[in-house]
Amino acid sequence: MSIDSLTALVRTIPDFPKPGIQFRDITTLLADGPGLAELIDQMAKVAGPLDPDLIVGVEARGFILGAALALKLGKGFVPVRKKGKLPGKTVGIDYVLEYGTDRLELHEGQVPQGARVLLVDDLIATGGTAQAAARLLREQGAQVLMALFAIDLPALGGLAALEQDGVPSRAILLFE
Ligand code: PRP
Ligand code: ADE
Repeated sequence: MSIDSLTALVRTIPDFPKPGIQFRDITTLLADGPGLAELIDQMAKVAGPLDPDLIVGVEARGFILGAALALKLGKGFVPVRKKGKLPGKTVGIDYVLEYGTDRLELHEGQVPQGARVLLVDDLIATGGTAQAAARLLREQGAQVLMALFAIDLPALGGLAALEQDGVPSRAILLFE
C-alpha cells in the first residue's frame, strides 16, 4: 500500500476538540486491516534496525500502535500514563500545556537503568507530550533511541523540538 493510500485512511475532523483544530483521527486507519498492517510494517522498518530493548507508548493512542509494534518486533511494552492511572509506585514528570500543566507517569523500575528504548505515539503536534515522556525516560537512566510517530504536523515544530533535545525523531505520515 502506498503512503498516499495510508494517508487517505486518516480522517480529518474540523473543529475538534476546539474551533480551529483539524483533528487527525486515526480510528479510520485502525479499522482498516490492510491499512493497520501497513502502518505497523512501516513503523517496524524504521524501528527494527535499532533493536530496542523495550517499546514505550504514550496514553492513549500510543498504546494501540506501541503494543502492535512491540508484538511485531518481539519486544516488551511499557505504558506512560496520565497522572493517577497506574496502580503501582510511579515516577513522573510535570509538563506545561497550552493552559496549565499535566503529569505523565511510569511504573517505577519498569524501564531499567541503561535500557535502550523506542518511544511511540500516534501523533506529534507541538512535541510537548513526547518531550516530557523522553525526559522522564532519561531521568530513569534509559537511552531514548528514537521517538516514532504515525503522524507529524510539521507546522507545529514538534519533531524539531525533540531533535533539539537530542532525541532522533521520525514520523510515517505528514499532514500540513
Ligand atoms: C494527543 C496525541 C499526542 C499528543 C500530541 O494526545 O496522541 O499524545 O496529543 O500533542 P503535542 O505534541 O502537542 O504534545 P491527547 O493529549 O489528545 O491524549 P489522548 O491520546 O489520551 O487522547
Ligand atoms: N493531538 C494534538 N493535535 C492533534 C490533532 N490535530 N489531531 C489529532 N490529535 C492531536
